[in-house]
Amino acid sequence: MKRSHHCAQLTKSDLGATVALLGWVDSIRDHGGIIFIDLRDRKGLTQVKFDPKDNATLGTAAAHLKPESVIAIGGKVVPRPAGTVNATLPTGEVEVAAEALEVLNVSETPPFPLDDVGGDKVNEDLRLTYRYLDLRRPKMRKNLQVRHRAAKSVRDYFDAQEFIEVETPALFKSTPEGAREYLVPSRIHAGQFYALSQSPQQFKQILMVAGVEKYFQIARCFRDEDLRSDRQMEFTQIDVEVSFIDREGIYSLFEGMLKKVWLDVLGTELKTPFPRLTFHDAMNRYGVDKPDVRFAMELADFSEAFRASAFKVFSSTVASGGVIKAINAKGLADLTQGETKTLEEIAKSLGAKGLAFIKVEGGEWKSPIVKFFSDAEKAALTTQLGIADGDIVFFAAAPWEKACAILGRLRLEAAALQQKRSLLTLRADDWQFLWVVDFPLMTHDEAENRYVATHHPFTSPVIEDIPLLDTDPKKVRGQHYDIVLNGMELGGGSIRIHQPALQKKVFEDVLKIPADVVESRFGYMLKAFTFGAPPHGGIAFGLDRMVALLCGTTSIRDVIAFPKTQKGQDLMAQSPTPVTAKQLKELHIQTVMPE
Ligand code: AMO
Ligand code: AMP
Repeated sequence: MKRSHHCAQLTKSDLGATVALLGWVDSIRDHGGIIFIDLRDRKGLTQVKFDPKDNATLGTAAAHLKPESVIAIGGKVVPRPAGTVNATLPTGEVEVAAEALEVLNVSETPPFPLDDVGGDKVNEDLRLTYRYLDLRRPKMRKNLQVRHRAAKSVRDYFDAQEFIEVETPALFKSTPEGAREYLVPSRIHAGQFYALSQSPQQFKQILMVAGVEKYFQIARCFRDEDLRSDRQMEFTQIDVEVSFIDREGIYSLFEGMLKKVWLDVLGTELKTPFPRLTFHDAMNRYGVDKPDVRFAMELADFSEAFRASAFKVFSSTVASGGVIKAINAKGLADLTQGETKTLEEIAKSLGAKGLAFIKVEGGEWKSPIVKFFSDAEKAALTTQLGIADGDIVFFAAAPWEKACAILGRLRLEAAALQQKRSLLTLRADDWQFLWVVDFPLMTHDEAENRYVATHHPFTSPVIEDIPLLDTDPKKVRGQHYDIVLNGMELGGGSIRIHQPALQKKVFEDVLKIPADVVESRFGYMLKAFTFGAPPHGGIAFGLDRMVALLCGTTSIRDVIAFPKTQKGQDLMAQSPTPVTAKQLKELHIQTVMPE
C-alpha cells in the first residue's frame, strides 16, 4: 500500500475519499465488537474503525493487533457519529472505515507507556535504554522538531547577514587551558595524541586571519566534564566570529538572532535591547554571574550597620575586611527543620561557618542571635529587607565573593521552596534575557597561586586597562560578555587580542605559561597574528541549552536525540566498552586499571 495522506491530514473536506495511511498502532479500543485504532505517524493521529459487520476477517485481524506495530490501512473517510467528535485533534471530526489492513511489522510490548504523562513518570535510564521508543512520545518528537527549527532559523539569520558556515576539525591538538579534554591516540604517530575540540575557538580566530570576516558554525564540542542537567560531554554550539566588530556590534547581532529564533519557533516577540548587568552587580545583587531575574529577593549589604555590632561574628568579619549580607525569603518562616538543615548544609558546603537566620512569627523575631542586635541594627534590617510577619532572613558573614556565592545559592533554594508553597510562580516563558558584562580579565587561582583567564586567554583587556596588566592584573577588565536567560548561561564570548605582542605578554607575563610551552601550544597562532590579523571578536551559544529553554525544560538531555547519562554512558548502544588487545596494540596503548 502506498501512503496517500499523513495522520494529521484528513478533515471533513475529505469525506468519501478512499485513502491509505501508514504508521504505528497508538491504541486499540474494542467497543462491543467494533475495533477502533488510533493510527499514529510523525504528524499526528487518525482514528480507524474496523466494523465486523462490514468485514469479519478484517475485524478479527484488527482485534489481534499489538500496540506499536507498524501497519498500513486502506479505507474510506467517514464522519464520526454525533457526540464522538474529538475537538482536540485536527482529524477529530472524521474516521477511516477500514477496508484493507497490512501488518508491516509486529511490535513487542513496549517497556513503558509512550504517552507524555506515562512516559514522564518512568526512570530516565529506561527511557535512554529504549531511546527509539522514548523519541516516539509526542513531547520528544516536538522537542526534536523545535531543535531543527531553531537551528534552521539560526542558519537563515546568519546567511541573510552574509556569514558563511565553515566546518572546523573535531580532531585538534591538546591545549590544556579550560575544560579537561578527550584524547585520541594516533596510530601513525606512536605515543602522540589528538584532542577532541572543546570549541572551534582557535580555528575561528585563524579564519579571521584568513580574511573570512563573518564566520559561523553549528559546531559539535567535546569536554570531559562532570555531567549535569545542563552539561553534556558532547554538545553543540552556535559559534560565531566577526572581524572589525566591537562589543556593541556583538550585542545587537545576537539580540537580532534571538529575536528571529523566538519569532520563528514560538511566534514570540522579544523586546530588545536586553538589559545589561556588570559582573560586580550580578554577584553583589544576585550572588551569581548568571542571575535569574524573574524574581527579586536581592542580596542586601549590612556591613556598615554591623561594623560596631555587639554580635562579634558580624563585627569581627567586617573588621577583617569581610561583609555582612542578607536575603529575606518572604513567607518561609514555616520552614521545616529538615528544610532548614538542608539550607544550612548547602551554606556550609560553600564555605559558610554557619547559617544565621531570623524567623519572624507572631510579630516576634525568633533567632538565637537577635539578642545581640541593637535597635538601630534591627531598624536597618527592617527597612532594607522589608521584613514582615512570616518572613525568614538569612545572613552570610564572609569575604565578599564567598558571602555573595552563599546567599546566591540560598536565594535559588528559597525561591524553589516558595514555589513549592505557591508563594512564587516562575514561568518558563517569562523570557528575562540579560547581558552580563565587565568581567575581570583574570581570576586568581588560590590553589595554584597564579592568575587564570576568567573566560579564555584570547580575551582582550579593556584597552584603557592594559597598563594595569603589569601593576594590578586583577583590576583589569576583560572585553568579555555572557548572555543569561532565566538563570542559565546561554552563551559567552569576547573581543579578542589580535596583536601578537599583547597575546604573548598575556600568556607569559600574566598567566605565567613558560615561553617554550606557549611556543609549542600556541606558536602557530602567534605566528598567524604576525601576518595581518584583523581586530575581531565573537561568541558561542549553547544550542542545547537554548533549545531546552524553548521547549520549557531545563534538562538538555530532553533535546538531544542520543544523550549520555550523568555517568557518561550511552545506555542504548552501551558505551563506553573495553576494546580488543589488538586494537590497543595498533594504537600503541597499554591500559592500567585503577586499584
Ligand atoms: P564557553 O566555554 O563559555 O565559550 O561555551 C559557550 C557556551 O557553550 C555552552 N556549553 C555547554 N553546553 C552543554 N554542555 C556543556 N558541557 C557545555 N559547555 C559549554 C554554554 C556556554 O555558554 N570558545 C568560547 C566562546 C567564545 O569565546 O567565542 C567558548 O566555548 O551555553
Ligand atoms: P556562633 O557564635 O559561632 O555559634 O554563631 C552564631 C550564629 O551565627 C549561628 O547561627 C551560626 O550558624 C551563625 N554564623 C557563624 N558564623 C557565620 C558566618 N560566617 N556567616 C553567617 N552566619 C554565621
